[in-house]
Amino acid sequence: MQISDSSSRILAGLLEARTGQQLTMSRRWRLETALSTILRERGIATLDELITILVMGKEPSLSQSVVEALLNNETYFFRDRSPFDLLQRVALPELQQRRQNIKRLKIWSAGCSTGQETYSLAMLFVEEPEKWQGWTIDILGTDVSTSCIDRARRGIYSQFEVQRGLGIQQTIKRFEECPDGWRAVEDIRTPIRFQEHNLLEPAPHPGGFDIVLCRNVLLYLSPDKKTLAFDRIASAMAEDGWLMLGAGETVIGQTSKLGADVNARGLYRLVGDGSRIEKRQGDRRAAAGG
Ligand SMILES: C[S@@+](CC[C@H](N)C(=O)[O-])C[C@H]1O[C@@H](n2cnc3c(N)ncnc32)[C@H](O)[C@@H]1O
Repeated sequence: MQISDSSSRILAGLLEARTGQQLTMSRRWRLETALSTILRERGIATLDELITILVMGKEPSLSQSVVEALLNNETYFFRDRSPFDLLQRVALPELQQRRQNIKRLKIWSAGCSTGQETYSLAMLFVEEPEKWQGWTIDILGTDVSTSCIDRARRGIYSQFEVQRGLGIQQTIKRFEECPDGWRAVEDIRTPIRFQEHNLLEPAPHPGGFDIVLCRNVLLYLSPDKKTLAFDRIASAMAEDGWLMLGAGETVIGQTSKLGADVNARGLYRLVGDGSRIEKRQGDRRAAAGG
């Protein structure tokens, strides 16, 4: 099935207007595959016919489905593993000391796709019950895609999906078999809430998050949209909070509000109050006995 240049430009424009995501050349080649289910389900014969319906603007639910079909939702449990080790080794111990008086942590998984990242985070806590006894852990998973958030809320994953990142023991302990696959059990569901949210819109809970993960979400945003998304994220972070990006992503050159944490490669801090950052680094050296 052929798609004209003008139709592919309209789809790219729709995706960028709604999410900030640019349709890369390689993804343009896959438009037909990405949209084939929508065409079949709605009885639409060609992509150009689909575009005509979209342009008439009579079916808002159709344009949302098209946008969602064009998004890249790739994810898996404990993706890239080392970022979770970094949280366990650096961020969580430090936050445990700093939040000792309130015993509460707030974590935001922004662009959580179908929820694997969010459940992986919850597992970090339930796997160390003595350490986190008496603590309230709030994990918020958000995504611009309604269908992803619906799936994340259901928390049911196929055999293939659990095998991507989870060992057998972890699967059996944290998931129960059900007719559709494996369903997350209550202990990893309890800390998590899911909500639809677009990173280009104001952030949920300004100033509230101790850790924000925004991994593999901003790669295809134009520079100005990236800056806007980083502004939104920065506004959601606690003064001494951290941002974690995906492998190969950086804030450098994208925002003046965040900078690399020199003591924890891969984590980013709010900047703007240098004395606070130096003090934190001093505290950490002192805690480490250096
Ligand atoms: C490749 S997945 C990454 C999922 C997960 N963070 C990980 O690293 O495994 C990117 C996710 O970002 C979401 N996304 C894209 N643009 C977004 C936006 N403007 N606001 C919120 N989520 C967005 C997509 O729907 C998709 O689920």
